[in-house]
Amino acid sequence: MESVRPTPSSVEFQVHLIESRTLSHAYSFCRAKLSTPGPERIVMSSPKILAFAGSTRKNSYNRKLVQLAVAGARAAGATVTVVELADYPLPLMDEDLQESSGIPANAKKLKQLFLENDGLLIAAPEYNSSITPLLKNVIDWVSRSEPGEGSLAAYANKTAVLCSASPSGWGGLRGLVHVRSILGNIGVVVLPDQVCISRAFEAFNPDGSLKEAKQQASIEKLGATLSAFVGKLTDHK
Ligand SMILES: Cc1cc2nc3c(=O)[nH]c(=O)nc-3n(C[C@H](O)[C@H](O)[C@H](O)COP(=O)(O)O)c2cc1C
Repeated sequence: MESVRPTPSSVEFQVHLIESRTLSHAYSFCRAKLSTPGPERIVMSSPKILAFAGSTRKNSYNRKLVQLAVAGARAAGATVTVVELADYPLPLMDEDLQESSGIPANAKKLKQLFLENDGLLIAAPEYNSSITPLLKNVIDWVSRSEPGEGSLAAYANKTAVLCSASPSGWGGLRGLVHVRSILGNIGVVVLPDQVCISRAFEAFNPDGSLKEAKQQASIEKLGATLSAFVGKLTDHK
């Protein structure tokens, strides 16, 4: 019978581009997916993606950007849940607070959303060349384990793409280096594809689309790429 499984070589090519600390996570994740015994016929299901921006600012450029990537992912067949982090206010991560009061309800709700999805689409603003405190705080709370739960359960078998928009010429690129490193170190496979929009104050049309057709196409493609990759990894059950 002719196999219709994705070829290992295509996955390995993507994995090859991911930074070294992430590589062992990525490699074992992909190999496990590809070597899982089962019927040759692939049961297609819609890739499930969680999308959000690492900003709660009213006129956030990154919120606009996430919407464009989401449109690309949906057009490619993904089922996308978009969340506003403003709807999940959290105290600053504090181990004493966790010990005295437990994991906050909003952290549990966010963690559940992470667990229910296979892909993460994140638009991450850059603060002082790094991650925003909001995004880091969410990552930290979601990383906390309940008794009896495995370590970093919310990040296991997750694939992510990153994008950013900023007023500067770098477009938030330096911040994404840190976000990529953090997520990679907690087990997320962060795809090499990313999009950074510089001079964000003049980059968007009033309807939220990007003025430059090339940029608009690249952010939609980013969402589509995540959808395709998550689909390949999760359909092979
Ligand atoms: C504390 C702070 C530090 C910042 N540092 C940077 C920076 O290093 N690089 C940059 O491109 N923009 C920086 N900015 C500007 C943000 O990119 C800008 O406010 C952007 O609009 C934030 O994303 P948002 O529009 O999605 O909220 C900084 C803003 C703040 C408040």
